[in-house]
Amino acid sequence: MKRIIILVSGDGTNLQAILNTYHATEISSRVVAVISNNSNAFAIKRARLAQIRTHVLAGSKYKKPELFDKTLLKTVEIYNPDLIVLAGYMRILNIEFITCYCGKILNIHPSLLPKYPGLNTHRRAIEHGEKQHGASVHFVTEKVDDGPIILQVAVPIFYTDTEHTLEMRVKYQENIIYPRVIKWFIDDRLEMRNSSAWLDGKKLPNTGYKD
Ligand code: GRF
Repeated sequence: MKRIIILVSGDGTNLQAILNTYHATEISSRVVAVISNNSNAFAIKRARLAQIRTHVLAGSKYKKPELFDKTLLKTVEIYNPDLIVLAGYMRILNIEFITCYCGKILNIHPSLLPKYPGLNTHRRAIEHGEKQHGASVHFVTEKVDDGPIILQVAVPIFYTDTEHTLEMRVKYQENIIYPRVIKWFIDDRLEMRNSSAWLDGKKLPNTGYKD
């Protein structure tokens, strides 16, 4: 059985989508813990409701970032996870953590990477007059929002869109693609090798899998 840890900071719609897809029915994996750096994250409530162990490491309580990083690593180590899923986790992981779990950390980012790494992606896409936007699931490497892309989904941007309507359209798709990619990993179909993503023994293109 594969042990999954999910790191969250916010609303947790992706966490919910993952739980809805696997938690009750999937026997080859289990979400063993949900960790948040934000004590007010609604995601924590969702996890508790699903009777999953939760840990809140409130970032503000740690005077030194190194102390936070150490505590996070120790907390994760308890579970010896096979997969760590960043689902709206808004804190940068340190190098030690990434090295320790290299090839086992997934992230979802709300843009068609390599476009718009970082924050406020929806607003920036609208401001730049983009015709489409989207989300990317990728392996996590040392550089933020930069690891090998596994799967992307694109959505149109309409001239009536606000940051909020666009975010909702993207999130709807995120909630579909993230569980899909996680299932690939759980089923041993997906891996990171030589800084690339591989699915079913085939190297994926730079923009990820195409249906
Ligand atoms: C998502 O848009 C995800 O792409 C980004 O953070 C947001 C998290 O949303 N990394 P939620 O907390 O899963 O609803």
